[in-house]
Amino acid sequence: MMYTDKVMDHFMNPRNVGEIENADGVGEVGNVKCGDIMRIYLKVNNDVIEDVKFKTFGCGSAIAASSVATELIMGMTIEEALKLTNKQVIEALGGLPPVKVHCSVLAEQALKAAIYDYATKNNLTYAGLEGYDPSEADDDHHDVVDIDF
Ligand code: FES
Repeated sequence: MMYTDKVMDHFMNPRNVGEIENADGVGEVGNVKCGDIMRIYLKVNNDVIEDVKFKTFGCGSAIAASSVATELIMGMTIEEALKLTNKQVIEALGGLPPVKVHCSVLAEQALKAAIYDYATKNNLTYAGLEGYDPSEADDDHHDVVDIDF
């Protein structure tokens, strides 16, 4: 079996799919490897992620990765959420086939882009966002797609 039960569960019953009206932060990234797109919406209250939703034109692994990522960051502070890595997302899924690792990066990058959007709109700075340039987010995929798990 190529996919874990956890991946199949989050693919078949993805959590937190949709949009948030009047979101405090929205991030959209494209995956250079496959051309798929991910958008994440955040509702932030007192620096805590109160709600998060995602929409993706991505594959099953991207759906499962974003679904589990939204579960992981719900209730986190922004600084905690900024530390979420695609490795943690993959671990929460019980693993992903190596060729699908880049799909989990999409969730991490869209989350970062959404936090950047929130921070920019509110004139806030966070450790972990220094030097972040959303226009370069796509290139980052290239750097991390070959991580070995
Ligand atoms: Fe594009 Fe998975 S193949 S996100």
